[in-house]
Amino acid sequence: MDTTSRPSRGCRTARGGADALHPLQAAFREAHGLQCGFCTPGVLMTLVPFLREHPDPDERAIREALSGNLCRCTGYQNIVAAVRLACGAPAPAPSSPGA
Ligand code: FES
Repeated sequence: MDTTSRPSRGCRTARGGADALHPLQAAFREAHGLQCGFCTPGVLMTLVPFLREHPDPDERAIREALSGNLCRCTGYQNIVAAVRLACGAPAPAPSSPGA
């Protein structure tokens, strides 16, 4: 197979290519959407295309989109809050770890 004649579709990673955080990453930081961070790359890679297709999802849609990702730490509450924050919607006050 000749791979050089196929157009490149690019490759996106959780880290991205720029120094600035993606708006979803910034929202995760602000809303405490992660604790250990083990699940975060997979969660972000799930949510970025999800938000492209659903720019203003409700909580149920966000939780359904996340259903293939396992987070052992957060209980998903702050992840949902971060997604709502990234969408510009009012988010419930995030709970900080240990609070
Ligand atoms: S933040 Fe630890 S598994 Fe999700």
